[in-house]
Amino acid sequence: MRKREQWASKVGLIFAAAGNAIGLGNLLRFPSKVALYGGGAFMVPYFVALFLLGLPLMVLEWVIGRYAGAKGHGSMTGIMGSLFHHANWARVLGSLGVAIPFLIVCYYIYIESWTLGFAVLSLFGQMPKPVSTQDPKVAMEPYVSFFREYTEPSVLAVLFLVITLLVNWYILQRGVVKGIELTAKVGIPALLLMGVFLMVVSLSIRGGKGLEGLLYIYTPDFSKLGDPQVWLEASGQIFFTLSLGMGAIATYASYVKYREDVLKSAFWTAGINEFVEVVIGASIAIPAAFAMFGAMAVPELAKEGTFRLGFMSMPAVLMALPFGWLLSAVWFFLLFIAALTSSLALTQPLVSLFEDEMRWSHTKAVNVSMLMVSVGAFLSAFVPGFIDELDFWAGTLMLVFFALVEIIVF
Ligand code: PHE
Repeated sequence: MRKREQWASKVGLIFAAAGNAIGLGNLLRFPSKVALYGGGAFMVPYFVALFLLGLPLMVLEWVIGRYAGAKGHGSMTGIMGSLFHHANWARVLGSLGVAIPFLIVCYYIYIESWTLGFAVLSLFGQMPKPVSTQDPKVAMEPYVSFFREYTEPSVLAVLFLVITLLVNWYILQRGVVKGIELTAKVGIPALLLMGVFLMVVSLSIRGGKGLEGLLYIYTPDFSKLGDPQVWLEASGQIFFTLSLGMGAIATYASYVKYREDVLKSAFWTAGINEFVEVVIGASIAIPAAFAMFGAMAVPELAKEGTFRLGFMSMPAVLMALPFGWLLSAVWFFLLFIAALTSSLALTQPLVSLFEDEMRWSHTKAVNVSMLMVSVGAFLSAFVPGFIDELDFWAGTLMLVFFALVEIIVF
């Protein structure tokens, strides 16, 4: 058996796993779901799903990941194989757990490249100037057209996509310890700092109107609890935010020492992720929009999806504040770090498949993986509707199915 890498430290391991889980799901997807599906009442099915599905599945992925890692396997193909005497059906079924993260990263990384692009453009004063008005439509208009032109895709969008792909490529090429673990050790503390800073900024907009916004999204509308869709959305959010049901956590777990306390790691991963979701994630984008545009605008914004909230309403709000360019840069940089540590986690299962099952060298495994991701990312950029299609099939449906497979197998 070839020697596989192992996380160098406990802190590094926890940060890497937290980076895996914390992503655009926490800062964008979560607040719009809460606003859309019953505010505080959404938190009932949300926490039920966390305790009944999220935590058990988290522990399960850590346990099977550690088990298979000791036998030299890190991708779901190899992990499922090692559980069933390398039967072909198990390996084929397991390969779904490599296909899902791969399909997700094809569009996830494109969105990640927008965050980097917008961060740099904010820093260089290239974002549209704010219009001073309380009318959300008028205030957001410049940012809506800016976003449309950027994602057409513009030359800049393609440039930042290439940069983002190269950054991911470079980090993965450096390997688990010097690449992923180091990035997380620097990135996660920075992310927490920026997150808490923006939370304070958002909540204090207009002398604390933002805080009212936070209360607003957590005000329970219990009539929604009878709606099965609310329960489905809450469980879907738990899977997505905790990176479960696709083997991404199991792959990271396969790089632990065999004696590692995986129960502890599982709870730390979930704990940090929930803090960044329920506390920080809830306190930025929606409260900021609430403070600036009023309660009426919030459900509207949420309905139009996460892009509207993150890429149009947020810059419209932040740019109107003192040092708006800087605040906007911090916001997009925060999103970038969150997305980067997740896209690494979404690609690593493929790298591990090539390394552990096909016995390719690390360099070749990363090169081929990133070439495949690049093709997918360019398709996401140029084929209209590609993102939504992938998000539905891979990011929603296959995820739940594969989680079920994991549970039955376990
Ligand atoms: N959990 C990440 C998020 O909240 C998404 C993700 C899913 C990352 C699966 C890695 C693996 O954005």
